[in-house]
Amino acid sequence: MQGRIFSGIQPTHGIHLGNYLGAIRHWVRLQGSYDCIYCIVDQHALTTLQDPQEMRRNTREAAAALVAAGVDPKRSILFVQSNVAAHSQLTWILSCVARMGWLNRMTQFKEKAGKDRENAPVGLFTYPVLMAADILVYKATHVPVGEDQKQHLELARDIAGSFNRRFGNELFPLPEPMILGEATRVMSLRDGTKKMSKSDPSDQSRINLTDDADAIALKFRRAKSDSILGITYDPEARPEASNLLTIYAALADRPRAEIEAEFAGTSFSEFKSRLADLAVEKLSPINAEMRRLQADPGYLDAILREGAERAAAIAGPVLKEAYELVGF
Ligand code: ADP
Ligand code: NA
Repeated sequence: MQGRIFSGIQPTHGIHLGNYLGAIRHWVRLQGSYDCIYCIVDQHALTTLQDPQEMRRNTREAAAALVAAGVDPKRSILFVQSNVAAHSQLTWILSCVARMGWLNRMTQFKEKAGKDRENAPVGLFTYPVLMAADILVYKATHVPVGEDQKQHLELARDIAGSFNRRFGNELFPLPEPMILGEATRVMSLRDGTKKMSKSDPSDQSRINLTDDADAIALKFRRAKSDSILGITYDPEARPEASNLLTIYAALADRPRAEIEAEFAGTSFSEFKSRLADLAVEKLSPINAEMRRLQADPGYLDAILREGAERAAAIAGPVLKEAYELVGF
């Protein structure tokens, strides 16, 4: 194995096409070459989602989605963050190492807190410290990240370096970002300049892994288009066409330039219908497997329980080392 990967997904809402193309399909592929630890990060989700029923439902749906998409609980560790206490315990130590100024620079907090910063949960501000703990408590060496998380990973490296310098012993390896190829940023189908995200509940155009074939086809049919002839890649002038080309290439697992050449003379509506067919072909089996898994909650619970035990067995000794180094 080439190292240890940690990566997480928030159970804030249903898992969507952006999560699948930007993260999950890579998680599946990486299982052959790394020790993989995949986490449903409910503690991160609590910064924005404070509805217990929804939290529980989404957590289970995320587990089903990951297993259905090919995360193999035998090869990888799959678990829920709040089931392994070491994440929160290390967070406290790291929040005494991280500096206010470092966190003040995080752009995602500014975006998510909006104008009413005084009213933002403290956890939304310290979110990146918890993320650093998630990674460091396993001494993970590699972290697959989308564009949106790059700054947080930089911070995790700063925190690890600072801890190592202050308390010695080079306890934490500095985690490396992993670049995951194309489609690391899937945009909304109703506005090609905005990220497809769980965090925007008003966006009905988002393709969820729970969508059936008709819903997928309808969403692509309704996707925003422009009036320029043919399909070309030009993110500045044609964000929607470019986004759809990127999605097509990622789903087909082919280079974007090849797809662009193939559809250069095609009308927008014809391209959208071809893309819908491809998406249905790729996503339907995952959707069917998700339904099957969700009908058997005992099976998923057992996977998550075992995952938490395996995760705790790695995290516990690392936390113990950190405790000793700081003098606890
Ligand atoms: P969200 O932003 O939808 O709440 P998460 O924060 O749970 O999603 O992110 C889970 C993973 O999915 C991360 O690796 C993130 O980079 C990736 N991801 C989220 N949205 C997109 C997107 N629109 N395109 C590509 N990857 C995405
Ligand atoms: Na995100």
